[in-house]
Amino acid sequence: MKIAVVGATGLVGGVMLQVLEERGFGNEEVLVAASPKSVGKKIMFAGRELTVQAVEDVIAQKPRFAIFSAGASTSKQYALPFTAAGTTVIDNSSAWRMVSVVPLVVPEINIGAAIQAIKQSRNHATIIANPNCSTIQMVLALSGLQKRYGIRRIVVSTYQSVTGTGMKAIRQLEAEERGETPEAMAYPCPVHRNLFPHGGDFCDDLYTTEEHKLVDETRKIFDDKTIQVSATVARVPVVGGHSESVNVELKEEFELDEVRKIIAETEGCVLYDNPEKLEYPTPLLSHHRDEVFVGRLRRDPSQPRTLNMWVVADNLRKGAATNAIEIMQKLLAIS
Ligand code: A2P
Repeated sequence: MKIAVVGATGLVGGVMLQVLEERGFGNEEVLVAASPKSVGKKIMFAGRELTVQAVEDVIAQKPRFAIFSAGASTSKQYALPFTAAGTTVIDNSSAWRMVSVVPLVVPEINIGAAIQAIKQSRNHATIIANPNCSTIQMVLALSGLQKRYGIRRIVVSTYQSVTGTGMKAIRQLEAEERGETPEAMAYPCPVHRNLFPHGGDFCDDLYTTEEHKLVDETRKIFDDKTIQVSATVARVPVVGGHSESVNVELKEEFELDEVRKIIAETEGCVLYDNPEKLEYPTPLLSHHRDEVFVGRLRRDPSQPRTLNMWVVADNLRKGAATNAIEIMQKLLAIS
């Protein structure tokens, strides 16, 4: 089987190759694509050297899947030519997420939407969108509660790792840590010994594009437009993963013990909540792990049917590469 990784030289692309290898795809024919400036470069995969190719050349080889993490404009340009060639695209950018016919998938929650889209496509090849990293970890942590009680409203504040912004942001943080002036600024201000309430671009309503993603994508994945979401995104000088403080109002009364059990039993989630031992999820705990960690579970005494929790995941793994590859694995398992 041929599998393409578009954006293979990038931060997420590199983790995609790592996850593919870890999950037993080392013997498959993996095609790697990046921008024209990287064509011909060598990348190590499963103990062998792969040569970076132009995207057009990879399309011509008709891979079964193409997993994209090369930015929204690359996805807009190349996703349809891939599907026309019979390749199913799993796209990690924001390009296709809110297009109504494109499924937005966290496989533990709604792989059915992807299966249906493939069945309905002319040549069994379609585009499947991978949600935003902050959305993935939040909806996975909440998925069991949505099923059991229904969710009325979510108030979320994120503490996002610089890895979500790519290599340039890591270089900025590392240069600042060394006391040097960064060669290029990924952010409008220093990130070392600092944080700022800003991710993506500001919109007319004074929210940012990253905040809007948390609202819109949550409703689409849960297929429930009635869920109210209020989001604040902050960037923190952290590399291991994104953290989120989530306040969730449920539709029905709950027992905290049952909530704990539901989260502990959610596929892909780990309940890590032992305040008596000072154990709670942190970005370092989640780094290089595929699971979403949930802790600090407690009732919100300020209003009925409401809970607080702390949700942490490695944004490059479950927030991006792992989720995309799990979509592919689930599709392979049913075909
Ligand atoms: P390249 O390394 O050749 O620029 P990151 O998000 O870490 O910045 O990575 C972005 C990825 O997307 C890189 O692999 C980058 O390749 C790739 N990319 C950027 N522009 C294009 C393009 N026009 N066509 C294909 N890949 C692209």
